[in-house]
Amino acid sequence: MSGRDSIRMEKVCYSVGGRTILENFDFCLERGVNRTILGVSGVGKTTILKLLLGLLHPDSGRVSIGDLCITGLPEAHFRERRKRIAIVFQGGALFDSMTVGENVGYRLFEAGQLAEAEIERIVLEKLSFVGVEQAVNLYPAELSGGMRKRVAIARALAADPDYIFFDEPTTGLDPIGVYNICSLMQRLQAEGKTTLMVTHDLTTAFATSKRFTFLHRARMVFDGTEVEMRDSAIPEVREFLTPTKDSLFVGKLPMLGSDRNG
Ligand SMILES: Nc1ncnc2c1ncn2[C@@H]1O[C@H](COP(=O)(O)OP(=O)(O)OP(=O)(O)O)[C@@H](O)[C@H]1O
Ligand SMILES: [Mg+2]
Repeated sequence: MSGRDSIRMEKVCYSVGGRTILENFDFCLERGVNRTILGVSGVGKTTILKLLLGLLHPDSGRVSIGDLCITGLPEAHFRERRKRIAIVFQGGALFDSMTVGENVGYRLFEAGQLAEAEIERIVLEKLSFVGVEQAVNLYPAELSGGMRKRVAIARALAADPDYIFFDEPTTGLDPIGVYNICSLMQRLQAEGKTTLMVTHDLTTAFATSKRFTFLHRARMVFDGTEVEMRDSAIPEVREFLTPTKDSLFVGKLPMLGSDRNG
């Protein structure tokens, strides 16, 4: 696989608020290999996506988009590369004061390269792809959580990216909403888009990805297929797949004394 067709992190270290989030973290998203990064809440999954997009900067190590190392570069120098990547933010991050149609077409209007009629055509095409074209004139506050997530996906698709990052795309949805989002991700993959998802939802992960990275205490402790993950003897991976009473509060609060269940 050539460096041209991947997005990579090499030996990335990143701390915030005195806490180490990533320590010598290596990661590679090859074009065509759909991946999921798993880990408990607060472990640093969203941080990884922001580092890969150049929205955050590592303390040390390198981030590359294709054959360009973006670490230390001014944003203007990698803006074109970044246009190949779209992100569906955790929670959608739609603009509340804009209609659904305006949200989806926002970046295209801003770029100023296409005629208004062409942008409107693209907006309707993307909304139709995600099944919410009837909501084009509604505001985000008028949508259900599942519809908001689908509009956020339509917005990410508007600029026809090669790579799409999904941050917790199914969190908070009912089973049918989860099914809809998984189906959308599978259709995008069938169209040749490469997806990278970060989540703690195993159902969504196993339905949409071929490879899985497990992040624990700033390090990658597992990287492999679903079968390898299910067969893994790594205690943290086993606990994540099948929590037990011993998992109570682990990772949520500092341990107090020896009474883990107290
Ligand atoms: N600006 C900040 N200042 C201090 N700490 C921060 C800041 N931003 C993030 N953090 C901390 O960094 C850690 C990683 O955050 P991140 O959002 O990447 O976690 P996550 O794995 O995406 O969690 P979740 O599953 O809940 O979305 C968290 O413990 C968070 O509290
Ligand atoms: Mg997050």
